[in-house]
Amino acid sequence: MEQHDLQVWSSAHLAQVEQALERWVGGDAPAGLGQAMRYAVLDGGKRLRPLLVMAAREAVAAADGDAQHAVGYQEAALRSACAAELIHAYSLVHDDMPCMDNDVMRRGKPTVHVQFGQAQALLAGDALQALAFELLTPEDAGVPASVQARLCRLLAHAAGSSGMAGGQAIDLASVGVALDEERLREMHRLKTGALLQASVMMGAACGHTSATAWTALSAYGAALGLAFQVVDDILDVTQDSATLGKTAGKDAAQDKPTYVSLLGLDRAQAQARDLLDQAHAALGQTALPDTRALAALADMVVSRSH
Ligand code: IPE
Ligand code: IPE
Ligand code: MG
Ligand code: MG
Ligand code: MG
Repeated sequence: MEQHDLQVWSSAHLAQVEQALERWVGGDAPAGLGQAMRYAVLDGGKRLRPLLVMAAREAVAAADGDAQHAVGYQEAALRSACAAELIHAYSLVHDDMPCMDNDVMRRGKPTVHVQFGQAQALLAGDALQALAFELLTPEDAGVPASVQARLCRLLAHAAGSSGMAGGQAIDLASVGVALDEERLREMHRLKTGALLQASVMMGAACGHTSATAWTALSAYGAALGLAFQVVDDILDVTQDSATLGKTAGKDAAQDKPTYVSLLGLDRAQAQARDLLDQAHAALGQTALPDTRALAALADMVVSRSH
């Protein structure tokens, strides 16, 4: 799939995701909380996690041809796409707070705590996390209970102490510490890779996915997830704040261990390319008929400018 085709493919899915987020997020939350939640989620972000869910769902749906459950699975995929984005948005709100990275700009606008205060930012993050799991467990949407439970487990594992929150704990404990490559990889795998990989697996859980495809998609998600944070480290030094929509040069300023600080820019870029090759190789092992959207998303992760 060429870059242009990815854009066409993405725009249809993005419209669906934006509309669903608009409908589901924060409308009736009290005392200004809804406004803070909507500010954190709407009008911004690349929506990579939702796109990965949708692409993985399509890849497995093309293989199973299960018309009977297609509507329920489609609904589950849209809910999973939004749930993954809500966990991500919550992680950004908390990541930016003064007790963590202390950032004032995100997605080209003031961070949530700057705009609404720290207490409201804390609560908005809490509420977005809870909403993610509520979205995954509808009473009347034709999504089988066993699928709902599996989606919750995948997302919870990726968000919690074995995933994002655990990785963030390592990140905070590593300021000024020279991690070796293995430890840095582990930190990145947890704080960022786990949720990206889970997005792929949630899409794969919305269909009758073979064990072969499951294992290969898991390897694809792991490689792409790590590549994503390696590239995030690279962009922090190669791009300016306007391009990124967040403050550039933060990692060195805060003495965070990154792929660039450990390996230098050239080797970090080589690492990202190597991980991209691994992601493509894993797709080749899925035995699925059409993984072009997943392939194009991996390319985008490594070639992106923000
Ligand atoms: C930024 O994620 C934070 C990391 C996990 C490195 P994204 O680069 O996906 O941020 P948005 O969603 O596009 O704003
Ligand atoms: C954040 O990593 C990972 C999260 C879980 C939010 P960073 O701290 O590098 O993300 P940015 O650079 O602020 O987006
Ligand atoms: Mg951080
Ligand atoms: Mg940060
Ligand atoms: Mg960063």
